[in-house]
Amino acid sequence: MKDLKKDLKGKYNGNESNYVLEFLDSENDDNKKSPWTYRFESGFAKLMGVKCAIAHNSGTSTLHSCLDAIGVGFGDEVIMPAQTVSMVAFVTISQNAVPVFADSDPDTFNISPEDFEKKITNKTKAVIPVHMHGLPADLNPIMKIARKHNIVVIEDCAQSILAKYKGKTVGTIGDMASYSFETKKHLSTGEGGMVITNNEDYAVKIRKFGGLGYRTLTGGAGIKPLLPEEFQNPFFKRHDQIGLNYRMPEVVAAIGLAQLERIEFLVERRRKVAEFYLDALNDCDWIIPQKVEADCVHVYWTFTVRYEGMEKHGTSWREFYNAYKNNGGDGFYGGLGLVYQEPFMQEKPFLNHRLPKDHPLLQGKFNYENGLCPIAESTQPKLMQFKTNYRDLEEAKKQGQILKKTIKQIEGK
Ligand SMILES: Cc1ncc(COP(=O)(O)O)c(C=O)c1O
Repeated sequence: MKDLKKDLKGKYNGNESNYVLEFLDSENDDNKKSPWTYRFESGFAKLMGVKCAIAHNSGTSTLHSCLDAIGVGFGDEVIMPAQTVSMVAFVTISQNAVPVFADSDPDTFNISPEDFEKKITNKTKAVIPVHMHGLPADLNPIMKIARKHNIVVIEDCAQSILAKYKGKTVGTIGDMASYSFETKKHLSTGEGGMVITNNEDYAVKIRKFGGLGYRTLTGGAGIKPLLPEEFQNPFFKRHDQIGLNYRMPEVVAAIGLAQLERIEFLVERRRKVAEFYLDALNDCDWIIPQKVEADCVHVYWTFTVRYEGMEKHGTSWREFYNAYKNNGGDGFYGGLGLVYQEPFMQEKPFLNHRLPKDHPLLQGKFNYENGLCPIAESTQPKLMQFKTNYRDLEEAKKQGQILKKTIKQIEGK
């Protein structure tokens, strides 16, 4: 068999293969003494400067555990951006709660603090600001409004690991924060997630919900030590709450730990890629990148812009896309469709199956019609998301040059 380890290229070429082999060495006592999830969680908490980190198997299960831990239940409302991933609404509905959508800021494409405040009712339990594309949401006003109304803030940092808001690392500002390590994220384990918090009470609840509700789990890694006589007893009671199995597998944590060792480099490389695109846009006022406020650091999960080429040059989004591709560009993604316009929010059969008959979502109390979030609705079709996960900076530079060439072509036509 070929020695793959020797030839490993690409994104897992740090200590990943060593750690996986160490994990596979089942007779190695270190694996038992210091589980890989414990090492990964401790390293993650240290990097972020927080008390607790709880590894999960995805950035969806993390959000679910967060909502359960703060007691989100029947009829409670959770405010989230209209333009984000649908998973934020999935977990809300799974808790029998109601997703409430706040409009976007036209310049950052992140949640608008003003609209968040307008959407608060006496049922609002949580807000989930999502730092979209790697850019921090405007957290100072969000935190102020949330504190005034006693609303828990769950930062969704899936796309924004190590981004900075006014000098602080995102994820350390709200009450808790969620990360995803799916395959295209800065830190990738194939699938995986992490919650961080300084609130030990929440940490226990999060770990229990994601860890099968075992009574002896603690907020930090591990379980309360018990004597074998206690847990081998037939009358031993194990579960003091409902929990799901959202635990991160050990082998995944081994990969995560190796990725964590290189996370600064992985983030910096995406920022360098973004520089090539920013250079290409230097003299262009009709392709507008997300606005980065002072003292904020964008980590560019994608390089996302608002395209105004139709208004300015009569060139549609699709025509620009084709021209970029014809010039040798890799192509780019459009903006995610608004969550409330997705079929699962529009087609009642799904909701009927999911929710009790007297649920507010089935009583017509919430309107998810067009016009709900006008800025997000007008911005979304104009968004372009350029790839930043190039490992070869020369390749990325070429993409920047192709973008510039395409812009010049359209301007010259
Ligand atoms: C902002 C955001 N939140 C949550 C998720 C869900 O993460 P996962 O795919 O790991 O479940 C993702 C990833 O796709 C995401 O980008």
